[in-house]
Amino acid sequence: KPSYKLLVLPGDGIGPEIMHEVSRVITWLENNRNVSFDLTYDLVGGASLAEYGVPIRDEVIEKAWASDAVLFGSVGDPKWGHVGFDKRPEVAILKLRQELGLFANLRPAKVFDALIDASTLKPDVVRGLDIMIVRETVGGIYFGEPRGIETLEDGSKRGINTEVYTTSEIERVARVAFDLARKRSNRVCSVEKCNVMESGLLWKEVVTDVHAREFPDVTLSHMLADNCAMQLVRNPRQFDVLVTGNLFGDLLSDLASMLTGSLGMLPSATLGAVQDNGKRPALYEPIHGSAPDIAGQGIANPIAQVLSFAMLLRYSLNMLDDADLIEQAVSNVLASGLRTADIMSEGMARVGTSVMGDAIVRELDKLVK
Ligand code: NAD
Ligand code: IPM
Ligand code: MN
Repeated sequence: KPSYKLLVLPGDGIGPEIMHEVSRVITWLENNRNVSFDLTYDLVGGASLAEYGVPIRDEVIEKAWASDAVLFGSVGDPKWGHVGFDKRPEVAILKLRQELGLFANLRPAKVFDALIDASTLKPDVVRGLDIMIVRETVGGIYFGEPRGIETLEDGSKRGINTEVYTTSEIERVARVAFDLARKRSNRVCSVEKCNVMESGLLWKEVVTDVHAREFPDVTLSHMLADNCAMQLVRNPRQFDVLVTGNLFGDLLSDLASMLTGSLGMLPSATLGAVQDNGKRPALYEPIHGSAPDIAGQGIANPIAQVLSFAMLLRYSLNMLDDADLIEQAVSNVLASGLRTADIMSEGMARVGTSVMGDAIVRELDKLVK
């Protein structure tokens, strides 16, 4: 029986609440499928700050390297709004991406048939939507130098961040996008602002080169990021794979989540480079944050977290059947009419986090009987 080592980092806010539902899915797999998991839990974000005075310990990074995959919840807590920039809870996820070299963040926005009415867009616009946003996650304006806040001679201040992309950073994320497109509808749209930013111009040139050299069979198009935001709302089904930098990818994926009904629906996988030992570091997390406005109320939608675990099975463990099974269970539960508050619509049954988790596990049972 194969056994896998997973590092589980629930984090802050709704993180622990929705991770609890995933732990039930994990237990179900161990009891019903031919697999076992060696789970290590640890603290990150505000939870780690409270216990250890830092948002993430080096020890946790080491544990991440030693695992087959990392399952991440969310970090961030208004309680820590006053701390210095290097100590904010969010540093936990930024540092994990940076230290493990997790450069390709896959954010699939797929509309479940049952949720067509949950979207704020018209049913005809979103029905059947299935797009994949590939967001670069270790470069760009998030990490570029110089950065900081300077005090000027007159006592006023200057806040500085720098957008930087190198050829190799663009090449490797472009390859991930083209590879994915080949397994989907074979189309990539590369998104930047080459009309105002040199880093955007280089982005466009490098993606074009990689395409011509290595992926001429894939259809490539280019779009300015502002237009892309508009097109995602106007006619999102024109897209298959989108590839873009760190900041644009962050914004466009939150936008895309609403096409599916809720931010609480969107999972993600963040992949690094294949190492000499053949292993590829990877982290799986919902795209949403710690949702402090609803934390502790038992009403958060656990589906993005559950689907992130399904992505872990698919991309890190090659357990394709089990990933399909979990996605099918989620789909069936939605079809049965159960809804957390964020995806609620008329005539449906409103449930909390744990009832939704229950229903997914019960549906898994039904699917294998
Ligand atoms: P958020 O994603 O936490 O929440 C935005 C809105 O969506 C809120 O109204 C929230 O209630 C709702 N929402 C989010 N997830 C939901 C779910 N599963 N079910 C139901 N509703 C859900 O964004 P925010 O409020 O801007 O940020 C809160 C904190 O989270 C900040 O500290 C931010 O930095 C952090 N954050 C962390 C991550 C991460 O850990 N990867 C991602 C985004 C934001
Ligand atoms: C995300 C989040 C993070 C990001 C924050 C919490 C650092 O918004 O994962 O989408 O901006 O990358
Ligand atoms: Mn975000």
